[in-house]
Amino acid sequence: MLSKKIEAALNAQIEIESMSSQTYLAMASWAETQGLSGTAAFLYRHSDEERMHALKLIKFVNERGGHAMVPALKQPQKNYKDTTDIFRSLLEHETHVTSTINQVVDTCLKEKDYTTHNFMQWYVSEQIEEEALARTLIDKLKLIGGDKGGLYLFDRDLQGLTTAEADGAEGKA
Ligand code: FEO
Repeated sequence: MLSKKIEAALNAQIEIESMSSQTYLAMASWAETQGLSGTAAFLYRHSDEERMHALKLIKFVNERGGHAMVPALKQPQKNYKDTTDIFRSLLEHETHVTSTINQVVDTCLKEKDYTTHNFMQWYVSEQIEEEALARTLIDKLKLIGGDKGGLYLFDRDLQGLTTAEADGAEGKA
């Protein structure tokens, strides 16, 4: 059974993961309107993954005798300056998510809830991967600078990465 404190911490994290999904969905939509189809595909998929992160928490809370709350969400940012603006914003958002996950882990230790602590380790690992990927993409964009041909190839690479990830996920299922 979850303590009220842990239940509240997990419900707060559900809201953050849901907001991540909405934010990346808005980024995907903006990218699509700019003809950045690879970037859009990558972000649509990322949005789906964040929804899965929220869903995994919802199911855990309910399985452990709590009540998972579906949050009301604010409208995310609608427009972006360019691709670099998107990925900088994504990294900033993920860094924030990492700190909130660390806070949940810390609360688990204080409350001696080792089951939830164990469950949260999946999120800790996921954050390492997500932050690393965002940093790699920002580094690539720095190298490209304002070169249009380079940006075209970057967008195409993201399409390839998204297709490869989708194939990998199907292979795992
Ligand atoms: Fe689910 Fe990207 O944090």
